[in-house]
Amino acid sequence: MIAVRNLTKKYAHNVAVDRISFEVAKGQIVGFLGPNGAGKTTTMRVLTCFLPPTSGSASVAGFDVLEQPIEVKRRIGYLPETPPLYLEMRTSEYLTFVGKIKGLRGAELAKRVNYVLERCAVADVKDRVLGKLSKGYRQRVGLAQAIIHNPDVLILDEPTAGLDPKQINETRDLIKSLAGDHTIILSTHILPEVEQTCQQVIIINKGKLVATDSVNNLQNRARGAGSVLVEIASRNGPLDPAAAKNRLELVLGVTRVLPRTSRANFLTFEIEGKNDLAIRGDLVRAIVAAGWDLNELRTASVSLEEIFLQLTNPPTDNSESKQNSATDRAAAGV
Ligand SMILES: Nc1ncnc2c1ncn2[C@@H]1O[C@H](COP(=O)(O)OP(=O)(O)OP(=O)(O)O)[C@@H](O)[C@H]1O
Ligand SMILES: [Mg+2]
Repeated sequence: MIAVRNLTKKYAHNVAVDRISFEVAKGQIVGFLGPNGAGKTTTMRVLTCFLPPTSGSASVAGFDVLEQPIEVKRRIGYLPETPPLYLEMRTSEYLTFVGKIKGLRGAELAKRVNYVLERCAVADVKDRVLGKLSKGYRQRVGLAQAIIHNPDVLILDEPTAGLDPKQINETRDLIKSLAGDHTIILSTHILPEVEQTCQQVIIINKGKLVATDSVNNLQNRARGAGSVLVEIASRNGPLDPAAAKNRLELVLGVTRVLPRTSRANFLTFEIEGKNDLAIRGDLVRAIVAAGWDLNELRTASVSLEEIFLQLTNPPTDNSESKQNSATDRAAAGV
């Protein structure tokens, strides 16, 4: 549904996006991750035909962003970093206005306005002036305008930025419910959100692609050396953490034993080995031989956060890349 090949975008001498390539299959939700200034918004603006690529190509539903921008725009709904709202308009008036721009008319227009008002949970503020809405409502009105023409592809630039946890959950559920009908790319800094919402992840850093994979594969890949978590217990009084650690370090193949949480009579260790599958049997035998109970043994989970930090370096510049809302309105074509 989306194909990006060797895409490069320069602003004067600044290379914002540097030869990135990726594909997104129909009906998927893809998380687009990267530190501030990585080039996420720039890539999204190229995909939405707001910015021409410097070189390389991008296509949506088989239409090239440079050659057939009208066909591309017809199939895309875009929520920029700042929702592209006219603050003096009322919610349903604004959605009707956007619907008209997107080519809807008459009964179809009215039907779609009502549909998105319900779908994005903004029907209760349909007669309110946008400038008086809370951020969460504005964000949902922004989503409503993005889906009003029922586009195949949704491009959402940090759709949950600045929302409170309850609003984040609501917006996340809404986005999830839109998948299937729509192919979605969403950029975010909230990594658990990607783990919960997306099937695929694209990570960029300083304009370069650093990873594109499924969430599962990325986690497996990041496990690298492989580590397991064990919780041991003793029925004969408290365990000596140092002695337990020493004993576990003697197990064949174990390279490091890191104490984790401990509570009375229970100790948890993260154990790194050359191959986590191979050390498990020896670990279990050592624990049983020492007279301890093995309460739990599992693969230590890696959060996307840790993977992200492994793959990207902290940004060294704090370049301000936010654009004003007028630019965002223009980018959304409203
Ligand atoms: N209009 C512009 N003119 C010049 N440089 C720009 C412009 N917009 C962005 N840049 C630069 O391009 C690079 C990528 O910016 P972009 O906004 O795409 O990053 P981002 O990944 O969206 O960051 P953020 O997480 O802060 O939104 C940055 O170095 C930024 O300063
Ligand atoms: Mg951005």
